Amino acid sequence: MTVGLVPTMGFLHKGHIALVQAAHKQNDIVVVSIFVNPTQFAPNEDFNRYPRDIERDCKLLDKAGADIVFIPEASEIYPPYSQTFVSVETLSQLAEGEFRPTHFRGVTTIVNMLFNIVQPDRAYFGQKDAQQTAVIRRMVKDLHQPVDIVICPIVRETDGLAMSSRNIFLSDQDRKNALTLSKSLELAKTLIGVGERAVPTIISAMTNLYKDLQDVQLDYIRIVDAETFLPVSALALPREYFIIIACKVGTTRLIDNAWITVELNTVRFQ
Ligand code: PAJ
Repeated sequence: MTVGLVPTMGFLHKGHIALVQAAHKQNDIVVVSIFVNPTQFAPNEDFNRYPRDIERDCKLLDKAGADIVFIPEASEIYPPYSQTFVSVETLSQLAEGEFRPTHFRGVTTIVNMLFNIVQPDRAYFGQKDAQQTAVIRRMVKDLHQPVDIVICPIVRETDGLAMSSRNIFLSDQDRKNALTLSKSLELAKTLIGVGERAVPTIISAMTNLYKDLQDVQLDYIRIVDAETFLPVSALALPREYFIIIACKVGTTRLIDNAWITVELNTVRFQ
């Protein structure tokens, strides 16, 4: 009998549900956890205002084929005097880690605890959080954990905006501006598709799309090696890369990415 685990922070949307459906197809039992994990939020971040709606989540999960919903209390997960963290060192400090230095330490700690509590055969994560998938893969490899990590594609709104629980915070104008993330990724794909391989050229074309936007602050656009998240200067070698974007739109910080596989004669995108 196999167990599939889908870790979430709730306020579910179609991106989460796609993970549950994938887990339902591949496992006998599907466990979904809902836990807004305090240790992955810095004191200045949105832990308190993070959206929550457990009743609605449970209804959606019932329909999607979840067997067990695990909704622990913060006091059970982190009882008094708890002081042990799991940390993936270098990878957690790059890209998102430069803006959120303690974020991935919180993620790897809670995901590790969930693995210990649920003991899944497989765990499901979305490509939406590209660096999170790389960090978790690294942790599982480094700690020899007996869990298969399954990565599912990004689920988007029909206009291209990547689904996120935080999209609810976007005003109408923010929502329009937020489309620039997916548009700039499409532009990059077009350039790469016609043979552009120089990273500075691709990034400057993408950055141009943001320059006239009001109330939008681009934290970064980078092209990185998909495993190490170290920046590359050209898409020269046949391997996997991510184009990663982080951008504050109004008061909401959004991330998006595209996965690029460069082969000898072809390029593939996801
Ligand atoms: P959360 O943001 O709730 O996301 C739960 C899972 O859903 C993650 O694996 C995330 O990548 C995936 N997901 C979110 N939006 C998606 C989309 N548009 N398409 C596909 N997948 C999407 O990520 C977390 O929670 C937390 O860090 C967690 C792993 C639960 C640890 O606390």
